[in-house]
Amino acid sequence: MSNNNKLSPAVDDLDPFWLPFTANKRFKGAPKILTRSKGMYYYSDQGHEILDGTSGLWCCNAGHTRDAITEAVSKQIGQMEFSPTFQVGHPLPFKLAERLAEMSPGDLNKVFFTNSGSESADTSLKIALAYHRARGDGKRTRLIGREKGYHGTNFGGTSVGGIESNRKNFGSLLPEVDHICHTLDQSRNLFSRGMPEHGAELAGDLERVCQLHDPSTVAAVIIEPVACSGGVLVPPKGYLQRIRDICDKHGIILIFDEVITAFGRVGSAFASHRYGVTPDIITTAKGLTNGAIPMGAVLIKDSIYDAFMQGEDKSVELFHGYTYSGHPVAAAAALATLDTYQQENLFERSRELESYWEEAAHSLKGLPNVTDIRNEGLIAAIELGCRDEKPGARGYDVFTRCFHEENLLVRASGDVMALSPPLIINKTQIDILFDTLGKVIQATD
Ligand SMILES: Cc1ncc(COP(=O)(O)O)c(C=O)c1O
Repeated sequence: MSNNNKLSPAVDDLDPFWLPFTANKRFKGAPKILTRSKGMYYYSDQGHEILDGTSGLWCCNAGHTRDAITEAVSKQIGQMEFSPTFQVGHPLPFKLAERLAEMSPGDLNKVFFTNSGSESADTSLKIALAYHRARGDGKRTRLIGREKGYHGTNFGGTSVGGIESNRKNFGSLLPEVDHICHTLDQSRNLFSRGMPEHGAELAGDLERVCQLHDPSTVAAVIIEPVACSGGVLVPPKGYLQRIRDICDKHGIILIFDEVITAFGRVGSAFASHRYGVTPDIITTAKGLTNGAIPMGAVLIKDSIYDAFMQGEDKSVELFHGYTYSGHPVAAAAALATLDTYQQENLFERSRELESYWEEAAHSLKGLPNVTDIRNEGLIAAIELGCRDEKPGARGYDVFTRCFHEENLLVRASGDVMALSPPLIINKTQIDILFDTLGKVIQATD
């Protein structure tokens, strides 16, 4: 039993739960406990209404506790709570795969279901490796990620990920992995609005890394179109197309990790549409079910799938999958979520609000300690200078003051304040969000 019981009216004992990606001791000394949600708001155990500036954790794009999603989940759980998808099937993942294939760019018409972004990332890497083997090119075993990239926390995603703190305590990770340089160039692109002007040539780093290892040994490159968890790095104009061209030149599979950027976050179904660059594989999760039930989906080009289908009918083509791949309740949540996005035109809404959002974000330029501002779609990053060589200290103070004193949920990635509200946010709420954040930044030393 801990001594912390008095700190939250809603939790008896804070001690046993080990919170992920959290300073547990600090949290348990001053917990932030959410007990309810609706629309743009969370409600805390202290009875406060908290404006959600982060869609939970980049998930709840349609806003919170949407009736249609709740009803779909309730109905399905009462009808059939689980059915395997190994050797038998049920209708919902087929329906969902069809919907996703209709929405996807190019000929990414095959869908493999997972339960999270991490599983989607690892699934995509394994499919890329197995694809090359399936077509008789088994020497392509190298995987390339990018500095500051985030692809979840499983071993594959951690290996291709490029955030130091997420890697350094976990041993040697996967072999034959390399990283290209990131695209944050603050000598040339400070306070960029949308895509930065400079840096397309940084894609050339992929050519360098390929030549270093011999391009014919490279299986896949995985990048986030907008690298969000690493501090909101918007791709420089022309960069993604150059990455695509280099992959094409060398026969390398290009994976876009769209766990955050899919489902309207950058004003289109997928970032791939927005940037006019089609990868070979897209990973998704989060917004797929509006965060209501864990689920991920990996979208795969027809020709990759076809390469696996050349053997005998009775052989299993891919020895990979999860007990809950295509889970009926998750699939019901996803179908209701996609209906909601469509009925409310939320992707278009996100695009329409983007310039208002951008103006509001950049209005914080000039405040003390604000060293850079970046934005794209309904995403913004307000970067703060590091205090006394203690990375993340100022960012944490701003986050915690926003929560406890101003009833605003923002996210601190180190000293970068990352914002990604539900796509149902209105202009008044955008004003409140940035006015409040600005006030807190001003009051924080
Ligand atoms: C781009 C990207 N990939 C993968 C993940 C991991 O997703 P999950 O936490 O659902 O495993 C995230 C999570 O933020 C992400 O942003």
